[in-house]
Amino acid sequence: MPRPIRKAVFPVAGLGTRFLPATKAMPKEMLTVVDRPLIQYVVDEAREAGIEHFIFVTGRNKSVIEDHFDKQYELESTLRKRGKSLELDLLEQDLPGAGETSFTRQQEPLGLGHAIWCARHLVGEEPFAVLLPDMIMKASPGCLAQMVDVYNRRDGGNVIAVEETPWEQVHRYGVVGGADWQDNHFTVTQMVEKPKREHAPSNLIISGRYILQPEIFRELDRQETGAGGEIQITDAMKRMMWSQHFHGVKYDGVTYDCGDKVGFLAANIALALEREDIAPAFREVLGKVIPQHGGKLSWG
Ligand code: UTP
Repeated sequence: MPRPIRKAVFPVAGLGTRFLPATKAMPKEMLTVVDRPLIQYVVDEAREAGIEHFIFVTGRNKSVIEDHFDKQYELESTLRKRGKSLELDLLEQDLPGAGETSFTRQQEPLGLGHAIWCARHLVGEEPFAVLLPDMIMKASPGCLAQMVDVYNRRDGGNVIAVEETPWEQVHRYGVVGGADWQDNHFTVTQMVEKPKREHAPSNLIISGRYILQPEIFRELDRQETGAGGEIQITDAMKRMMWSQHFHGVKYDGVTYDCGDKVGFLAANIALALEREDIAPAFREVLGKVIPQHGGKLSWG
């Protein structure tokens, strides 16, 4: 068996400019989808995949994330006094165990690769997962659990979650080419950052989940900037492809890109419609609101 994946890194130091002014004083990762902050969805996904240590790379204004994963004695005692046991249980469930979280700072948002590099001392010399909190991957088992399964079946290496995108959109993403398909996974043979459609090796784009070997930190040590003048994780992975195996996993599920307004709104609608306590009333509201705005709604 390859070395287990015990640690996960959550980069939460970005500026979230696409959500200004909401993100002026509040981190994007605390925006709520239905009634849970984005960061909670990815932490839950990581726990389900067996992660034991949760490492947050935060920036300015991010202390609220630290508070979110801490006990709130005043709130809990008020809930207890009011007999709100359901709410108390919810708070309890969401909390990682004592000593399971670590926080470090990325002092400047120099790119995703740089944010991951900031976690190098907390990760140490072992393979680890990276989860982008603005991507909600709705899947059962969760996306990271599916990746850990492939990691074990392929005897280790690096694993990237990929998904299909329309060909006319490939120029917006990191794209992979692959060979040796087995079920839902394959060997990554190429990675291209934001290719023109005619140069793209496939329409499989890198989504927001990675399992990486610690050698990635040697690559990130070079602090080389790429697209947008940022230190990019895709560039570091590309350099590592010469010496390490990379597996792609076309995971079974649906992705909501919550870093984008439309994706964020879609996640709210889809996840609300999955909730037994909300769905009936919400369907009724949608049934009224959508025709008022010129749309059609058919529940089938
Ligand atoms: P994004 O590029 O989607 O986030 O990075 P952003 O820069 O905050 O958003 P916009 O484009 O300005 O609206 C994906 C993830 O990587 C983190 C972000 O917090 C987000 O969760 N990130 C990005 C960092 O932690 N540091 C960085 O330097 C860049």
